[in-house]
Amino acid sequence: VDGFLLTGIGHLTTNVGPAITDAVVAIDGIRVSYAGSAGSAPEVEGRKVINCEGGAVLPGFVDAHTHVVFAGDRSAEFAKRLAGVSYADIAAEGGGILSTVASTRDASEDELFALASKRIWRMIGAGTTTIEIKSGYGLDPETEMRILRVARRLGQELPVKTKTTFLGAHSVPAEFKGRRDDYVQLIIAEMLPAAAPFADYCDVFIEEGAFDIDEGRAIFDAAAALGLGARVHAEQLAHSGGAMLAADIGAASADHLDHATLEDARALAEAGVAAVLVPGASYTLRSGQAPGPMLWDAGCTVALATDCNPGTSYFEAMAPIISLGVVQMGLTTEQAIWSATRGGALSLGLDDLGVITPGAPADLIVLDAPSPAHIPYRPGANLVRRVFSSGKSVLGVR
Ligand code: NIG
Ligand code: FE
Repeated sequence: VDGFLLTGIGHLTTNVGPAITDAVVAIDGIRVSYAGSAGSAPEVEGRKVINCEGGAVLPGFVDAHTHVVFAGDRSAEFAKRLAGVSYADIAAEGGGILSTVASTRDASEDELFALASKRIWRMIGAGTTTIEIKSGYGLDPETEMRILRVARRLGQELPVKTKTTFLGAHSVPAEFKGRRDDYVQLIIAEMLPAAAPFADYCDVFIEEGAFDIDEGRAIFDAAAALGLGARVHAEQLAHSGGAMLAADIGAASADHLDHATLEDARALAEAGVAAVLVPGASYTLRSGQAPGPMLWDAGCTVALATDCNPGTSYFEAMAPIISLGVVQMGLTTEQAIWSATRGGALSLGLDDLGVITPGAPADLIVLDAPSPAHIPYRPGANLVRRVFSSGKSVLGVR
């Protein structure tokens, strides 16, 4: 058999049943063929044996919200914010998103690929095996397409699964100042049809200063006609009605949700819209965390994601995000680990990911720690010792 036998697993999280202690996982080809107690494990039969030495094994992280394809540096803006200037004020002065747009427009396809693949290799090294990648730092037909092509190529050339999202409605670009309707029309008439073959989803940043509900609805309607699902940047900086819009159009996810209400939570749960929470952004902006426990208790599928971007959440690894989800947001460790794996997968319609069970793709990680509780408990260390992506060992012991 061409595969691996992972023995000596101290704690196995399968996300299909309770955790198993003293466990074994067999990988045959790209898939898991056994996940259970050591007692009934299959024979070695030619598989390469890897002794996990009591370490925990869990599904690879599914990071369901990133803006990882960008160029430029906003550390000076970070310093300004620490000195008290608000994110909204920086954006109003032409900084923020538009500053990254200027740098990204100047970067070639190969430059963008090189920058993003460095980031994604670090993500993989920290245990991420699936990522969602948004455009949104081009805001013109040519650059948005360049970002989406890079995103597709990243999924083909790196050992990570990807879903791509068109976020042309991230901000109104400078050249359309005072002509926002024209930009919305450009998105609908030109950018969306061009992007559709390269994107799985369409996203709109619903926020004061970005796009309003009517604009969002028009863009999502056009996207749906082209077969794209919806993901919505909703209720991040203020309550603007994005969550209700997401529920109303049956979006795949509503993301951020820092200002979501109980009514929003119930509507999202009822409509089957996943709540993708990004505690790194709330942390970096020093604003309150999204009401994760309320969304969970309302019955939402909760996902935790990095929101990896150069402005509000320059996080690549999922471990600190899980820690923020537990320590600052108030999820339990079990909820946070589930949200960072299975929850992310479900939010992306990847129903066979985020689990370790026979037949599922073998995307899993081995920790140098006895249980996943060490992830939120020790946020400053990379405890990931090995990473398997579709049955291939992509990262060995460091
Ligand atoms: O998810 N909310 C909008 N977009 C990003 C921020 C992008 C930026 O500041 O560059 C976010 O936080
Ligand atoms: Fe975002």
